[in-house]
Amino acid sequence: MARLDDQARRDELYRDPYPLYDRARRAEGLMYVPEFDAWLVARDQDVREVLLRTEDFSSANALLPDMPLSEAALGVLPRGFGPRPTVVSSDDAAHRRHRAPLNRGLSAARVAALLPYARTCAEELVDGFAADGSAELVEAYASRLPGMVVGRLIGLDPADVPAAVHGGYRAEELLFRPLSPEGQVAAAEDVVALQHLLDGYVRERRERPRGDMCSTMVAALAPGDAELTLEQRHELVTSLQNLLIAGFLTTSALIGTMLLHLLGDRRQWRALRADPSLVPAAVEEAVRHDTAIQAFRRTTTRPVTLAGTKLPAASTVLVAFGSANRDERRYERAGEFDITRPGNRQHLAFGYGTHGCPGSQLARDQLRLTLELFVRRMPELRLDRDRPRPQMRPTLIHRSPQALYVTW
Ligand code: HEM
Repeated sequence: MARLDDQARRDELYRDPYPLYDRARRAEGLMYVPEFDAWLVARDQDVREVLLRTEDFSSANALLPDMPLSEAALGVLPRGFGPRPTVVSSDDAAHRRHRAPLNRGLSAARVAALLPYARTCAEELVDGFAADGSAELVEAYASRLPGMVVGRLIGLDPADVPAAVHGGYRAEELLFRPLSPEGQVAAAEDVVALQHLLDGYVRERRERPRGDMCSTMVAALAPGDAELTLEQRHELVTSLQNLLIAGFLTTSALIGTMLLHLLGDRRQWRALRADPSLVPAAVEEAVRHDTAIQAFRRTTTRPVTLAGTKLPAASTVLVAFGSANRDERRYERAGEFDITRPGNRQHLAFGYGTHGCPGSQLARDQLRLTLELFVRRMPELRLDRDRPRPQMRPTLIHRSPQALYVTW
């Protein structure tokens, strides 16, 4: 019973962490939050400081699961690949080694080359429901487009994308949602299936490299052309799984949240419709105001002082990008969603410093093309008045509405 209460409290906090952030930004020093098992870093300036002091704040545990795994689920996972450190959970030279192929594979030119495909996919998704006059947009659009785009980036056959996307969602559920023991086993089996799918690609691209991200990562993380060792396959599959999830769950979540805020305030939707040149500013404001990755962890490597609070070595801090983005010292009316806000690209929604998001351009482009398309194809888009106001999913890592019922 106590555990259920704890879970309900945590869900409530995750659905709306903003009041806690507000208190933490006003507090002297850092605030310890038992639900996070961490010191909350809430002010813009303090978040930037942690992200730059990489020698004091390690990324080794950047993304820790919320849920302990049952013995049964732990028995399933060794049939797959990993876990191994990835770009997001490594420091220094190891981080640079993981990061180099991502920078190449997500260069401005590579992202630009992906955009015609992204546009075609987006148009086809809208074709699928445009005549209906109503839809649930998370299922019909937001959860689909980014998986197709990241699948193309990695080099997946489009026929394999639904299975990859399913595996990604199941990995998130396994690590971050309370499931029954049988539910955990089923989710673990789906994750193992995803890993075997990715391993097939890794080995295939070793034999026949192409111009895709999978080939780039194989060449960079396992130089040479000898048959891949089992250890190399473990590392490559873990890294590809991380890229897949980092690439689509985040963007899917933000498409949903961005539409929720825009449609929730008719004046702003109408302004956008009247003047589509506002689209880039609307995207930036959506990303600032209610971002998908609310917070990641860092661990102190030695005793440090931050915002006047002394932390011993091995302390956990939760770096709250979502709170920094509402810091009144940086933004006027920080809590308000306002697409006419000037100069708002300085937010921390994509992180900052060496771990800053390498996929931010691809994410922004998908958000932009979505708004351009929706304004053009469904100018009368509105939240469905016959449905209750959308509820947010209880998560800090892929914050999004659970469902988004709309009419037009
Ligand atoms: C709206 C969507 C997105 C948001 C809000 C987002 C946000 C972030 C943030 C805050 C970080 C920094 C994590 C840290 O400091 O520990 C990050 C890192 C990362 N992101 Fe994104 N991201 C998005 C989309 C993407 C896309 C589309 C890709 C790739 C296709 C991607 C790949 C990554 C990777 C690989 C990292 C780890 C980088 C490193 O540790 O060096 N992200 N992202």
